[in-house]
Amino acid sequence: MATTLISGGTVVSAIGRREADVLIDGESIAAILAPGHAAAYGITPDSVIDATGKYVVPGGVDAHVHMSLPFGGTVSADDFDTGSRAAAWGGVTTIVDFASQQVGQDVYETLAARHEEAAGECHVDYAFHQIIGDVNEASLKAMTYLVDNEGITSFKMFMAYPGVYYSDDGQILRAMQNASESGALMMMHAENGIAIDVLIGQALARGETDPKYHAFTRPEETESEATHRAIKLARVAGNVPLYIVHMSASEALEEVSRAQHMGLNVFAETCPQYLYLSIEDHLAQPGFEGSKWVCSTPLRSKHEHHHKDLWKGLRMNELAVVSTDHCPFCFKDQKELGLGDFSKIPNGMGGVEHRMEMIYQGVVMGEMTLERWVETCCTTPARMFGLDKKGVLEPGADADVLVWDPNAQTRIGVNDKHHMNFDHSSFEGFVVDGKVDTVISRGMVVVQNDTYLGRKGHGRFVKRGLSTYLH
Ligand code: URP
Ligand code: ZN
Ligand code: ZN
Repeated sequence: MATTLISGGTVVSAIGRREADVLIDGESIAAILAPGHAAAYGITPDSVIDATGKYVVPGGVDAHVHMSLPFGGTVSADDFDTGSRAAAWGGVTTIVDFASQQVGQDVYETLAARHEEAAGECHVDYAFHQIIGDVNEASLKAMTYLVDNEGITSFKMFMAYPGVYYSDDGQILRAMQNASESGALMMMHAENGIAIDVLIGQALARGETDPKYHAFTRPEETESEATHRAIKLARVAGNVPLYIVHMSASEALEEVSRAQHMGLNVFAETCPQYLYLSIEDHLAQPGFEGSKWVCSTPLRSKHEHHHKDLWKGLRMNELAVVSTDHCPFCFKDQKELGLGDFSKIPNGMGGVEHRMEMIYQGVVMGEMTLERWVETCCTTPARMFGLDKKGVLEPGADADVLVWDPNAQTRIGVNDKHHMNFDHSSFEGFVVDGKVDTVISRGMVVVQNDTYLGRKGHGRFVKRGLSTYLH
């Protein structure tokens, strides 16, 4: 087995930082050594990566991405090949995507189909959550089977998108009760889709068709009400662990915070877009430009307090995880499906490449510590979703490593750093401090010196255990 020593860097974990060298043996971390001790122990590594002046952190874990997701009559633009490659470019060494069951479909078949799509395509390791869109005896039974046998230990449901993924409260409760028994985690897209559809119909009837009406018809009350309801249903289902995805609104965060203070097993994630982007500066851009930032939950107003509150939530662990909800659509031909009717714009934006960069900028801005950056982007997503060998640099863990240069900058934009497969950048024009220097995926150097060295097929499916965040 080839050995590699990452020497001279500052190793940062969720709980601290220290000068140390990282020894990799094959696909695993073999040891964390005091500086210079490899030589003292007579270790002669096959290769050495000089990390002097750099941070050495676990490879990122993005627990919420959608490669090739069918949505609104089209399919999200990154597939497992292009999307996982872009992830690697961004210092992300594990992605968690979704298998998706809709009404009338067999859960096992949807999972098998997703495996087929991803097999041999990924550049970094990957896992799946299962979307349950049709609750019945068969799908409930399948949920238990997936937890016990398939390494699928989390299930996403939707309170939004009636007629597509939507589940009503009774269906949600039944699935939650099942998860409560199996030990699985429930993930919730918390928006009141029934109320939103009324608002959309009314807006369109008034001739309000521009992209910005996407946000105005999904006011924060529709997010916070659904969040509240999901929390109550989870409590009724025996305090099943509940994870609210892509949180964008202060009021919804308050619901999560209150539940946590009551001792409920409620967690939440936010995404970089909700920390930086806004209705005014992005979604409401003139003409149809704003369609690039149509996603759900929607961007919020910069004149309210969402950005500030979400950063606070990340500091206080009310928000445990930063994911990207990576789901890009090209402006040309894809977002354009909604020209003249914002409700037909496919929902989603891309960012799998930029999460480590955008959240490190939070460290630079004083919004969080370096350790919290590692915790929210690497360690907690791994623990939350039962990825035992990911998200930490410790002996026995997978050798997924990001060497980060804090003294360089990253310019984000389609003509700057952009390796994702869509024709614009959600973070166009951002210039952030810090830069991906070297990325190692299970012992293999995949990015170094601004050069891509990885390969399609290196990434393996990872069977997940139960969440280790609670137990
Ligand atoms: O707009 C979004 N978030 N698109 C992806 C699907 C989802 O709801 O997560
Ligand atoms: Zn969602
Ligand atoms: Zn999503």
